[in-house]
Amino acid sequence: MNVAVFSTKTYDQEFFDRFNETYRHSLTYFSAPLNRDTTNLTQGFDAVCAFVNDQIDRETIEKIAANGVKVIALRSAGFNNVDVDAAQQRGIKLFRVPAYSPMAVAEHAVALILTLNRKTHKAFNRIRENNFSLEKLLGFNLHGKAVGVIGTGQIGAAFCKIMLGFGCSVMAYDVFESDQLKNQGVVYAPFDTVLQSSDIVSLHCPVTPETHHLINTATIAKMQRGVMLINTSRGALIDTKDTIEALKSGQLGYLGIDVYEQEEALFFQDLSESIIQDELLTRLMAFPNVLVTAHQGFFTKEALEQIATTTLQNLTDFETGQPSKNEVRATG
Ligand code: NAI
Repeated sequence: MNVAVFSTKTYDQEFFDRFNETYRHSLTYFSAPLNRDTTNLTQGFDAVCAFVNDQIDRETIEKIAANGVKVIALRSAGFNNVDVDAAQQRGIKLFRVPAYSPMAVAEHAVALILTLNRKTHKAFNRIRENNFSLEKLLGFNLHGKAVGVIGTGQIGAAFCKIMLGFGCSVMAYDVFESDQLKNQGVVYAPFDTVLQSSDIVSLHCPVTPETHHLINTATIAKMQRGVMLINTSRGALIDTKDTIEALKSGQLGYLGIDVYEQEEALFFQDLSESIIQDELLTRLMAFPNVLVTAHQGFFTKEALEQIATTTLQNLTDFETGQPSKNEVRATG
């Protein structure tokens, strides 16, 4: 197929080109994101391939449909950035990569926890300046701590298993409970109970109308004072302003985020010579007990291989009319 690949980075091109030797689609790479302002780039293409911060709203869909695009192949699991109803109404098929490496994201959540706790990022810088003092590097044992998990799908389940391995007790909330996780020692409880009982809360549910700003002043107040909050899921799960207030008051003891509600304008770009206009993110970064990474949870070799092969297979399945479990359909 003739595919316009948006938001391309060098690593995307490297992995897609390598695996496309088998699939033989015609891939044209654009570094620009796909949104209502860049749809003119889709003229002459049958397919678009997009990533998490491409804004595929109704207007974008109308425009790409008019240009002849018949299929959107997402390189992501989440599809909250696509107007699925609009795509269906315009006869555009939507595919995603449902699980490319749940372990990659779960392990990154653990990296955030360990870094915030044992302050290895600070130790690294100190030692390079011959500062061998341990002052202010005090951490806590993970062993025996209570970890709360919101959402026990693919990534949440992988995360639960790692934390059980650390000797933590794991309590979880999900609208669907997993018997397999229960057998492994995870205890399911209502959302409020999980918040009240946990030393560390990690978010692994998708953003939906029900979970938008799930973490806000009212829900943070239910948590233990000094709790560690981790979000590798989607930025809009957290009300950032409320989180800043909770960090200022000490109610929130640590915050580790790999996602940020306004990340589209920032993440995946080198802005080291730019003036950052985002006041909330700059305020967050001023806290010593906040760690921000720029949506790199997925970023492992294994995950990029899986993303490339599944996306290329999704395009082949569409082209050859094969039914695919990776197709996303409107629910309404
Ligand atoms: P999944 O679909 O396997 O699991 C999501 C779980 O959340 C399901 O068990 C579902 O029942 C549960 N859930 C839905 N609504 C809920 C609610 N209101 N309260 C509690 N639980 C609820 O998804 P997966 O693959 O585990 O992904 C989880 C999140 O991680 C997604 O938001 C995804 O976008 C994000 N993600 C982040 C990446 C990163 O690089 N940081 C990479 C890949 C995914």
